[in-house]
Amino acid sequence: MKALITAGGRGTRLRPITHTNNKHLIPISNKPMIQYAIEAVAAAGIKEVGVVVNPETVDELEKALGNGAVWGVKISFILQEEPKGLAHVVKIAQDFIKDDPFIFYLGDNVIVGGIDRFVKAFQQDASDCHLVLSKVSDPHRFGVPEIKDGRIIGVQEKPKNPRSPYAVTGIYIYNQHIFEAVHAIQPSARGELEISDAHQYLIDKGFLINYSEVTGWWKDTGQPEDLLEANRFVLDQIIERPHSQMTAGEVDSQSELCGKVIIEKGARVINSQIRGPAIIGEGTLIENSYVGPYTSIYHDCHIKNSELEYSIIMERCKIKDIDIRIEKSLLGRDVTFLCGKSRPRTQKFVVGDESRIEL
Ligand code: G1P
Repeated sequence: MKALITAGGRGTRLRPITHTNNKHLIPISNKPMIQYAIEAVAAAGIKEVGVVVNPETVDELEKALGNGAVWGVKISFILQEEPKGLAHVVKIAQDFIKDDPFIFYLGDNVIVGGIDRFVKAFQQDASDCHLVLSKVSDPHRFGVPEIKDGRIIGVQEKPKNPRSPYAVTGIYIYNQHIFEAVHAIQPSARGELEISDAHQYLIDKGFLINYSEVTGWWKDTGQPEDLLEANRFVLDQIIERPHSQMTAGEVDSQSELCGKVIIEKGARVINSQIRGPAIIGEGTLIENSYVGPYTSIYHDCHIKNSELEYSIIMERCKIKDIDIRIEKSLLGRDVTFLCGKSRPRTQKFVVGDESRIEL
């Protein structure tokens, strides 16, 4: 079995972060999002992984993932020149997949609990396609299955009137019949080859489609709020261990760590309070500050005389002397927040396109 992981797309709902960053490299609990997908397929015993990239960010992805040896897999990069839909991704990967069964894994999906049981179910049932479903409150945002007597009898993409409370998550397992489907279907109204149409094709042609339901937690990280929630869930999975195992960095005697807090190597915490679950990245300095639950601060940041919680802070950010607590925030790389001391006390901004500030 092989794996095909998407890492392209435009990430329009995550602008401005995605103006300069590939969305799949945004850190969740200080680990690039796509790494969760790679680790999940590696844990399921898969050795050959195709990562589908776009021309704008192929270099960034190649640099970040290398050849996959760190995870015990071999990564091949597959270029999708234009975002023409998920079924198009499958189409262009045919030379890489050949006749093998494969997992198609959307790299912006985060799932807790691994994927082994889905692979086993696919193999045991000898099905042509295995879909992973998750019950959601807003199915109209997803591909939605119609289920009758325990069988999927239809799949619709983002329907106005969903026929079940389930989303088809971005984890699919196929045999070679999916190629017949992706070649047969036509672009949708938004001009893309929809993966749901390929599933509908398989159903119409009488192929065997089975499904599993996610029992733990799954998220499609389309929007900033989703990233914060994914970060919360992943941080919640941190297992509390003795202080010495959680703290590779330095924590001075004036500081207090409470709950599940990871201090990565080279990080320093001075006269500060950190309430977990939280993670402080390599080389980051936290001084006279409060870091609250569900916060991930990535590498080489400097937080001084400030308070923040429930946030993702990417590398090299500087937050200094801010007297209002920062929360529910997503800061891209190299962002600076300062409190000016000079009069008049005004607010000054240098903000990129499509940024959002709530004062
Ligand atoms: C895609 C699929 C959709 C699926 C979702 C899961 O939607 O088209 O069927 O439910 O991924 O993440 P997109 O996120 O591209 O809108």
